[in-house]
Amino acid sequence: MANIWLKKNIHQLVDEASDNGKGLKRTIGTLGLISLGIGAIIGAGLFTSTAEAIANHTGPAVSISFIIAGIGCALAGLCYAEFASMIPIAGSAYTYAYATMGECIAWIIGWDLVLEYGVASAKVATSWSEYLNRLLNNVFHFQIPYELSHSPFQASADGVQGIINLPALLIILLLSLVLIRGVKGSSLVNSIIVIIKVGIVLLFIGFGWSYINPANYDPYIPANTTGVSGELGWTGLLAGAGVVFFAFIGFDAVSTAAQEAKNPQRDMPKGILLSLSICVVLYILFAHVLAGVANYTEFRTVGQEASITYVIDTYMKGYGWLSTLVTVAILAGFSSVILVMLMGQSRVFFSMSKDGLVPGIFSQLHARFKTPWKSNLLFFVFVGIIAAFVPASIISDMTVIGTLFAFVLVCLGIIVLRKTDPSIPRPFRTPWVPVVPILGILVCTGLMYSLGPANWLRLIIWLAIGAVIYVFYGIKNSRLQKGTVKKQLQQY
Ligand code: ALA
Repeated sequence: MANIWLKKNIHQLVDEASDNGKGLKRTIGTLGLISLGIGAIIGAGLFTSTAEAIANHTGPAVSISFIIAGIGCALAGLCYAEFASMIPIAGSAYTYAYATMGECIAWIIGWDLVLEYGVASAKVATSWSEYLNRLLNNVFHFQIPYELSHSPFQASADGVQGIINLPALLIILLLSLVLIRGVKGSSLVNSIIVIIKVGIVLLFIGFGWSYINPANYDPYIPANTTGVSGELGWTGLLAGAGVVFFAFIGFDAVSTAAQEAKNPQRDMPKGILLSLSICVVLYILFAHVLAGVANYTEFRTVGQEASITYVIDTYMKGYGWLSTLVTVAILAGFSSVILVMLMGQSRVFFSMSKDGLVPGIFSQLHARFKTPWKSNLLFFVFVGIIAAFVPASIISDMTVIGTLFAFVLVCLGIIVLRKTDPSIPRPFRTPWVPVVPILGILVCTGLMYSLGPANWLRLIIWLAIGAVIYVFYGIKNSRLQKGTVKKQLQQY
């Protein structure tokens, strides 16, 4: 009879990691980790979800939603940091869970992370498509037809129905090919893109500040007139926080570089928490300016797509150069987010495949490039189909609810582990346990609640599919269950 609560031995994991890590050089310092975090964090969430939240949920008060979402992330981030310092190996929440809460929970998290990494890439790809169209329009006065740049479930204001989002599909294809080829030297490219991204955020805040029209902040929290919970008013702030939460996703990507960090015990928590803190401050200011330059109602209509460029073109006269620069930088920035997310996805499935929980195809390496190319191709098909045919807001909500669920489990894991394994060395300790993890669970569950029943249903269906695969495939093929790992453990 299988025991679904079997755990991997932490000491053995660390040992395995140093074996695997023979080829990996420990070259990334604190700054490099922070840059990796920011590279994964700033993307479609800031440049598209902010306007979506302003239009549909918060009105000008969107900064308050960023603060709420930021608090949820900071609490979960403090828990992530303890795990990352305790188990300084690549693999993210899936690996942490396998060593601390057992195989079943590890499976749930690994499966759930497909929503965070895989599905998130699809959302960023749809945003990439919006900004590409805006750039083509600004520079060449040409646009990809609406039908070919939107999902079949979207229609324009004048009634044109979407068919397929081709640019979104194309960028996923291109970046999957880049991943298959391998991304050596990517750390330098990432740092350059991070500097550009942070630069344009600062430029927008700096130049945009003087274009703020105080009338746009009045009323700061518009009344909810429809009676539907979450549409403006106070309930809208929580719903808005659920939407902009997407903007924070990715800080855990820092944990995937643990084996390349010079001093993982010290630098991982710093990388996670500092990249997150920098983004919280930038986001609050950026969102405040965006909501002040244009009226919130415009983001429902003309400013709905590629909103940042729209705002600059419409209100900041004389800043045409900034508009083009911002658009190009956003396109580059989105590409780096997609790349990190797709890579995170293949790394998690690589670990799961090595553990026997998903088929071996996900860990087969290309003879020359040494990358999990079949996994990259399969995820191209999965993510590409979503990007091409599902509306961005649904993709975004799915990502958010899946990520929040993983964060809840990570917070829970810290409480459990302090009880079951109090003696493991913890170079970084989450402060005030169990208060911080409990607050993390409460805030993240509150945000999940704000996403509404349709998203809960989608999450439940996704987890149910996962449960079926685990029962009929994972348990039978798990190396830990088969005893391959157990024997090694006994020898250990
Ligand atoms: N936080 C990342 C983004 O906003 C996923 O694109």
